[in-house]
Parts: sequence; C-alpha cells; structure tokens
Amino acid sequence: VSAARATGDLAGRRVVVSAGGTREPLDPVRFLGNRSSGKQGIAIAEAARARGAEVTLVAANLEVPRPEGCDVREVSTALELQRELVDAAAGADVVVMAAAVADYRPAAVSEQKIKKDASDSGLTLELVRNPDILAGLGAAPHDGTLLVGFAAETESDEERLLELGRGKRRAKGADLLVVNRVGWSEGFAADDNRVVVIGPDDAVVTQAHGSKASVADAILDVVVSKLNPAAH
Ligand code: CTP
Ligand code: CA
Repeated sequence: VSAARATGDLAGRRVVVSAGGTREPLDPVRFLGNRSSGKQGIAIAEAARARGAEVTLVAANLEVPRPEGCDVREVSTALELQRELVDAAAGADVVVMAAAVADYRPAAVSEQKIKKDASDSGLTLELVRNPDILAGLGAAPHDGTLLVGFAAETESDEERLLELGRGKRRAKGADLLVVNRVGWSEGFAADDNRVVVIGPDDAVVTQAHGSKASVADAILDVVVSKLNPAAH
C-alpha cells in the first residue's frame, strides 16, 4: 500500500474513467473494433477507488473483469460512450479518457447479415466520422473538472512522439495528456506499460513504466497535484 493510498488523497472526489475500445456495428454479426483491452483504464479506476475517490467507469467492451466498488456503465459504440460519459462528467472532479474510441463508424448498419456476391472481388465500406468526445468536453465549459486524455501512438522517435502528444493535448483542450507507445506487441494487451504525461505548459510532468497499476498511480499522483484544493 503506497502512502497515497493510505492517506486517501482522492477522498471526496468524483472520478470518471472511460476504458476499453468501442465497436461499431456493420450488421448483426460484425463490427469494426480495435485492440484496446481496457487494462490501463481499469487500473486507473481501481487506483482512484483505492485512493478514496467515487469512481464511475464507462466500460466499452472490456476483455477483463470489471473492478469492484465502481459504478460501471457498459457501452459499446462511440455514440453510446459519448452519451454515458457526458452524463457522468457533469460536475466530476476528474475525467480520464483512456478508452480507444473509433474515429469512424459505418455510414449505415445493415439490418441483415451482409452477404458476399459470387461475382464481387471486394467490398468498399463507407464510414462517417464519430464525434471527438474529449475535444467536446474540452470545448464546453468544465470549470473544476480536470480533463485527462490519452494518445496511443506508433511513432518510434521519442521527440516526435512527444510532439504528437503535445498537439493532441492542445487540440482537445485537455489538461493532461498521457502518451503511450503502441505497436503489434506493445501497449494493448500487455500487463506492463510505459507512458509520458504532458502538462498544461507542454512540459513532461512525469514518466512512468512498469505494471499498469503502478503507471495508474503515477498518473493519479499528477492528477492530485493539479486538483483545485478550493473546490474541495
Ligand atoms: N478520443 C475521443 N473521441 C474520439 C477519438 C478519440 O474522446 N472520437 C480521445 C481518446 O479517448 C483519447 C484521445 O482522444 O483520450 C486521443 O485519442 P487518439 O485516437 O490518440 O487521437 P485522435 O485525436 O483520434 O487522433 P488519431 O487517431 O488520428 O491519431
Ligand atoms: Ca483516434
């Protein structure tokens, strides 16, 4: 048990975490999805709970057990996630957008299973943009709510990776942006993670690597340091 957990430095705070990956249906049996397991988001929800917060977890297609002691709201698509998240975020002290949200969804969902044609040689799907949920929260009034975004990037160059993170933090109006390198074997289902947290002035506030639980506590250490004591 870390010192932070023992002192309950998130007691009395309401923390909303999105985790997992959205799925966008094509027809009754198929969807467009991504490889996010939800483990890092769950680790953050669990750590926030352990530090005394009241936690709402907006869970998108989790492949792992739901944490104890959290208000869990199950969603599947980006639009469902948006609805639950915006609802839960009202008046929250912290919102952590750890979920991998589909940038696009099929323009139409077929009522029947899509059948292939004996003569076709391929299929073109028409996709439309999903709303950017974090950018929407960042653009709306959110006094007293600290917004934490994630950026999953495949960029291997460290400086360029940080620049992508800085650009995303600004574009979305987030207070903190957690940059996470992903690849075919890094990040997603892994039990260990390595992240860099970028703060409001574009500086690196902290770096952490290790278990997703220890990374979660390192991220929450930064969150606690940025929370407004007067609002408490
Ligand atoms: N995000 C969101 N709504 C979306 C897409 C992303 O809220 N429709 C959030 C993610 O949950 C994450 C952050 O925005 O906290 C960054 O997501 P990411 O996919 O890395 O960035 P994008 O802005 O979608 O850019 P791109 O995928 O093109 O790199
Ligand atoms: Ca994206």
